[in-house]
Amino acid sequence: MQNDRNIVNLALIGFMGTGKTSVGRLVAEHLGYEFLDTDELIQTATGRSITDIFAQDGEPAFRALEQRVVQELAGRRHTLISTGGGLPLHAPNLTSLKQHALVVCLWASPEKIWERVCHQSHRPLLHAPDPRAKIHELLALREPFYKQADVLVNTDLRTMREVTHQVVHQYRYALNHQ
Ligand code: S3P
Repeated sequence: MQNDRNIVNLALIGFMGTGKTSVGRLVAEHLGYEFLDTDELIQTATGRSITDIFAQDGEPAFRALEQRVVQELAGRRHTLISTGGGLPLHAPNLTSLKQHALVVCLWASPEKIWERVCHQSHRPLLHAPDPRAKIHELLALREPFYKQADVLVNTDLRTMREVTHQVVHQYRYALNHQ
């Protein structure tokens, strides 16, 4: 682990539908950490839904709000930070998170992601004529960014409980070896 890092938080990154929010809540419970979700922080700060921000102001405006939230998180301690799926594409976001958090990516295949999100409708990027193709396209584009995480956990064949234990284990290991 690079020594310019002071790991006091755990951040989950990964594509939509990989379980960041559900696993994040369980991990936070295990560690006795506060749970924060960047999408929720944006919604609370603006009083608007993510769908509304995308529709009214466009994606660049949403990304600017995301960047602001990441900067505000730099002062946190003992926090589980669950992030929106597109957040690590802006390199400074990942650099900032890595200064204070172990960054764990939850990975899933496009097929599994589709299985998990096909009955949900709150993600503007998947309001596409062919959402399945959109998942393939976005995941291929984002893979190099997700792979910059400290730890990659494949969620395809694991239960939420197993993923939670993996993440907790990796975090405790990182704390003991920094
Ligand atoms: C996005 C993922 C969403 C949310 C927004 C954009 C993305 O969060 O931030 O709809 O670009 O992948 P989840 O990953 O929590 O669904």
